[in-house]
Parts: sequence; structure tokens; C-alpha cells
Amino acid sequence: MTAVALGGGLLEGLLPAEVAVVETFGDPPSVELFPLEADVVANAVESRRREFATVRWCARAALAQLGVAPEPILPARGGPPWASRAPLWPDGIVGSMTHCDGYRAAAVARSAVVASVGVDAEPNAALPSGIRQVVTLPEEQRTLARLAASHPGVAWDRLLFSAKESVFKAWFPLTGRWLGFGECLITPDPDLGTFTGSLRVTGPIPAGMTVNGFTGRWRAQDTNPGAHLATAVTVAPSAARNSPDFNVAPAVVPTVSTNCILRSKRGNVAVARNPIHTTDW
Ligand SMILES: CC(C)(COP(=O)(O)OP(=O)(O)OC[C@H]1O[C@@H](n2cnc3c(N)ncnc32)[C@H](O)[C@@H]1OP(=O)(O)O)[C@@H](O)C(=O)NCCC(=O)NCCS
Repeated sequence: MTAVALGGGLLEGLLPAEVAVVETFGDPPSVELFPLEADVVANAVESRRREFATVRWCARAALAQLGVAPEPILPARGGPPWASRAPLWPDGIVGSMTHCDGYRAAAVARSAVVASVGVDAEPNAALPSGIRQVVTLPEEQRTLARLAASHPGVAWDRLLFSAKESVFKAWFPLTGRWLGFGECLITPDPDLGTFTGSLRVTGPIPAGMTVNGFTGRWRAQDTNPGAHLATAVTVAPSAARNSPDFNVAPAVVPTVSTNCILRSKRGNVAVARNPIHTTDW
């Protein structure tokens, strides 16, 4: 499948060939939404309306690569905020969307060939102070210190955060459950551009086989202002789980975390213990 990028690819090559990816570094001048989609953002601020519309434009272009006709991509609605925005894909399709300042992308695949997918993009800039401690495990903090010394140029704390968001976006459609930041240990490989995410809770069981861990790929642009990084996770269907893109790791002792990520319109992140709607501030 072709990755389409307007202005240079960030996710390009991070997902298997079966996944169609469309990404853009700018908003097209006008994007038509279906009326039901327009209703979702009718009262939202302009920046939210733009990201919502553009990312759906990306999704429809990616779906077209799979031969799927345009249709509304609505949020699940209902339940806590981390569940209510999960996109509802056409039958037989799995997918994931991401947007941040200056970047939007969608990745979709047929559910017969990919069990789940998660993509996330972030500025390649350090997390705001205080956030790193909350979203990383002690083992991850040691890894971050090592990587900062050996591989400068990547905001490693942001990369770990992004990997966790990608894991969550792949996890949620399979489980319908919350996954805390302390419940998945991310280990990036700085040279291969890959990462593993080992679950500390019982994982999803698509097609009868338990998923105890995720593997993904990452890319970071340089740290100039406006640079981005991206992460991508794919869960293979059970028949293909011995492939290098899939990781079955032994489950370890669960930890409990109820932290919720809040994201400002400028892409800043903060953590709260009681979820509120992430796009309202
Ligand atoms: C749900 C969450 C991952 C969304 O990320 P975000 O900060 O809004 O950032 P992005 O812009 O990259 O992604 C937004 C898109 O994610 C998708 N999304 C939202 N909730 C989702 C969910 N539960 N499952 C899958 N995708 C979801 C939506 O398509 C949304 O875009 P849209 O509202 O325009 O349709 C994040 O808000 C969150 O709650 N994180 C906490 C859970 C977590 O990450 N745990 C770590 C586990 S190790």
C-alpha cells in the first residue's frame, strides 16, 4: 500500500504494506464533512474543526486505497472521554488517526489482514516538566537517561509518550478497556527505529490468542522548531503472529494507574486523575 504524504512522510515505512497511510503537514483549503460528522464538531473551536476534518480527509483517501467508498467516520460516543472519541470504522476495517500542530494522519487496513493499528504523532520536543514522571515507569526513566546521552536529537520522553498513545489506540478497539501509562513498558531501539511495549496487565485476545505485548516503529525529524516524531503499532491477526511485527511477551504483575492525559489546543499535555474531555481546554 502506498503512503501518501504532502510535504514529506513521517509515518511512511513505519507500518506494514497492508496498511494504507495518508498524512499531511497542512490543512487543505476546504474539506467536506458528512452532516453527521459536522454535527460532532458544530460547537468546537476552529482549530478542532480543522484537525477533525483534515484527519477524516486523510482517512477517506486511505480507505479509497482499499477500495472503500467514503462514509462518515463518527466517534463512538458515550462512556469516559478516552473511550467516547474512538473512531467507528466501516465494517471489515481497522484504523487509527492522529493530529497535532502541523500534522494529521490516518492509517487503515482490512481486519482480515491486520487485527488492530495505532498511530500517533507529536512535536519532537521534551514533555512539559512534571509529565515525564507520571507517564513513565522507573525502568523507562533509566532508559531515557541512557538514550539522552547516547542519542541526542530525539525527545525520548515524548517518543515514549507517543509509543504509549499508539499502543492505547491499538489496544482499545480490541478490548474496550482503559490502559494506564504504568501498564505498558516501552523499550525503544534507537538504531533500528523500533520499540516494544510489554503489557503488565492481561492483554486482548483477538481470535483466541492473547496479546501480551506490542511492537512498533518510530521516526523523529530533527529537533528544529516544528519538527515531529511519530510512532506506529500493528497487531497481526493470529495466523501471522510469529512475524517480527508482533511480540508475545510473558505477562508480569499488574500495576494500577487511573491517570488521564489532557491535551491543550497547542499540543501541550498534562495528566489528571479524573478524566475530562481532552479537547475542551
Ligand atoms: C485517546 C488518546 C490516546 C487520544 O490521543 P490524543 O491525545 O487526542 O492525540 P491524537 O491527536 O494523536 O489522536 C486523536 C485521535 O485518536 C482517536 N481516538 C480517540 N480515542 C480513541 C480510542 N479510545 N481508541 C482509539 N483511537 C482513539 C480519534 O480518532 C482522535 O481523533 P478525532 O477525535 O479527531 O477522531 C488520549 O487522549 C488518551 O486518552 N490517552 C490516555 C490513554 C493512554 O494513552 N494510555 C497509555 C497506555 S500505555
